[in-house]
Amino acid sequence: MDVSSQELVKQDKMPLSVILPTYNESQNITKMIDSIAEALPHNAPAEIIVVDDNSPDGTADIAASHARDLGRQDKRFHIRVVRRAGKQGLSSAILAGVHEATGEVVVVMDSDLSHPAHTIPKMLEEIRQSRCDIVVASRYIKGGAISGWPFKRKLMSKGATKIAKYSLGIKIKDPMSGFFAFRRHIIHGIKFDTIGYKMLLEMLVKVKGARIKEIPYTFTNRCAGASKLDSKVMFDYIRAVWRLYRYGRAAPSERRTSVRFFSKAGRFYTVGSSGLLVNYLVSFILTALFPGIWYLHATVVGIMFSITSNFILNKVWTFEDMDFAARKTLLQYGMFAGFSAFGALVQLGLVYALVETNEVSYPLALVLAVATASISNFLLNKKWT
Ligand code: GDD
Repeated sequence: MDVSSQELVKQDKMPLSVILPTYNESQNITKMIDSIAEALPHNAPAEIIVVDDNSPDGTADIAASHARDLGRQDKRFHIRVVRRAGKQGLSSAILAGVHEATGEVVVVMDSDLSHPAHTIPKMLEEIRQSRCDIVVASRYIKGGAISGWPFKRKLMSKGATKIAKYSLGIKIKDPMSGFFAFRRHIIHGIKFDTIGYKMLLEMLVKVKGARIKEIPYTFTNRCAGASKLDSKVMFDYIRAVWRLYRYGRAAPSERRTSVRFFSKAGRFYTVGSSGLLVNYLVSFILTALFPGIWYLHATVVGIMFSITSNFILNKVWTFEDMDFAARKTLLQYGMFAGFSAFGALVQLGLVYALVETNEVSYPLALVLAVATASISNFLLNKKWT
């Protein structure tokens, strides 16, 4: 053990923390922990932090029991299992692990044996000898490879890599790697997004002036268990890239909370205005296209269209909530429509009152009613939303 390692151990601080996110990895986790223990040099103390999202297959219990056994045999290792209430995504699991970590250097890797533990000493060597801040184990540089992935998965990985490189101006070859090491202090003060599964990408965008190096490795597709990459993960990825793109374009002073707040309010009222247009146009076009239609029916359809378009725009843009789980979305829609009902009643009542006087034409009544309803909506939203 070198002097600095001894000092860190004395201060109860490990020089190395390895983060292992797990979800249903019961068949892999013990082998994974053993492979790390074997790969690390004999004089290197390390902490291994397993972050499990309440895997139904009992991964956390298996990891905890193995940790006890290994801890008794080999005092170099301090293995902890962080148990979380439910599946919250890969990035947020990694962040939870980083939050727990005390190591000077943090290594992040998958727990399904697709990332070879024997690459860790090479990564540590690069960090210590080349004085790098981030070392990325790369599949896409000379010497790196992927074994066992079908063509479709390779294509998806390449596509996602290209999106990151072109939209975010990332220079390294494998920004999508899930296998990387970094000096823990470089992320001090950085606010990470917990959505999605790309912590490395976020570091590459947000950590300024970091010295980065890629070293090759061969990714071997898992033999047991299943990948968790589903359509939601892909959707989250696009959303994460979009957020990072906007982060990159904002001035440094604007990257904190104030601008986010004002831009959200701005977006809310922009959506509200677009709803007025949709409301007016749909109602007006319906009466023009179907002269027999009762004007109040046309107004109701216009209101429903505007509520729906406002809801969709507010969800995907204003509040950036891309979770389209059917139950949640329906509930949100119901609440949004409920809040909008008051404005709708104001509009209908006013159109009816104006048209029935026989002195105001329907198009003019519609303009007046839409404007009045929007003022009432604005005041209500300003107070409650
Ligand atoms: N705690 C927790 N919570 N762990 C998770 C979650 C989650 O919601 N989702 C995935 N994991 C864990 C898995 O158990 C596994 O250890 C690791 O994260 C990687 O998940 P996989 O679902 O196996 O990823 P993959 O093999 O499809 O994707 C690989 O390729 C990507 C690049 O193309 C991984 O290596 C990624 O890290 C890599 O970025």
